[in-house]
Amino acid sequence: MWFMTLTPHTLTVEASTPLGYRGGVEHLRARWQDQPVFIKQLGSRDPEQQERFAHEGFIARRLAHPLLVPLLAHSPQQLVFPYVDGCTLRDLIEEGPLDPAAAVRVTLGLLDVVTYLHAQGVTHHDLKPENVMLQDREQAAHAVRLIDLGMAHDRHATSDTHAGTRMGTPHFMAPEQFQGVRGDPRSDVYALGVLLWDAIAGHPPYADPLCWLIGRPATRDPLPGPAALHPILDRCLQHSPADRYASVMDLAAALNAVPL
Ligand SMILES: Nc1ncnc2c1ncn2[C@@H]1O[C@H](COP(=O)(O)OP(=O)(O)OP(=O)(O)O)[C@@H](O)[C@H]1O
Ligand SMILES: [Mg+2]
Repeated sequence: MWFMTLTPHTLTVEASTPLGYRGGVEHLRARWQDQPVFIKQLGSRDPEQQERFAHEGFIARRLAHPLLVPLLAHSPQQLVFPYVDGCTLRDLIEEGPLDPAAAVRVTLGLLDVVTYLHAQGVTHHDLKPENVMLQDREQAAHAVRLIDLGMAHDRHATSDTHAGTRMGTPHFMAPEQFQGVRGDPRSDVYALGVLLWDAIAGHPPYADPLCWLIGRPATRDPLPGPAALHPILDRCLQHSPADRYASVMDLAAALNAVPL
């Protein structure tokens, strides 16, 4: 066992195990104040990365929802979250497509927490199965734990560290996100449509999500799952935000009305 000191020095983490390293940020599993925690630790001295890291902490620390993993403690170099025992939605999809009813249950849990985010003026901008955890691997709305506000836009923040960038994950990015549009809740509606599709089909709708950028027509796979879900998936995936559900609440109402 070894000890790692969080800054400020009042926070001490014991028995830390590295889980991985991404983009200048190390992921650690540790114990802190007698509970298992997940720590994101910034190693980079790049001012832009430092600013992005601070931005994630700034957004996470004022939010509280039962389906959002809370920020327990933070410093300029560390973000400490409770460790979620379970798996990501991606882990489950890799074992095989989800039963459509289960996929809808998980999406409704996500819609619950994303409705909260939007009411707080926060657009997630990186909704994808890798950023959704399921407590105890349960395929239920109450098991959903949303993570990773690293790409989020906060209407109340004085600056947006991602302004002008095209960050996101291509398969899940709404077309306007490629143009650098930030803070439109309908971009999250698009991503949730892709996520539901991915969960039911085992893969996202477009083999090549970028071809329309170079003027090639995009070929979408046939709509997956029960026919009752098709108009909902299709509306989420509209190219123009005005043609999608106007809000995540409207999407939740449509999904709740599907007999499954
Ligand atoms: N609180 C948590 N408990 C357990 N595992 C977690 C927790 N938060 C994140 N993870 C795991 O770590 C992975 C990366 O976390 P997160 O998405 O927050 O980091 P990231 O730096 O944005 O990395 P990425 O670029 O991979 O999205 C998640 O996909 C998940 O597997
Ligand atoms: Mg992530």
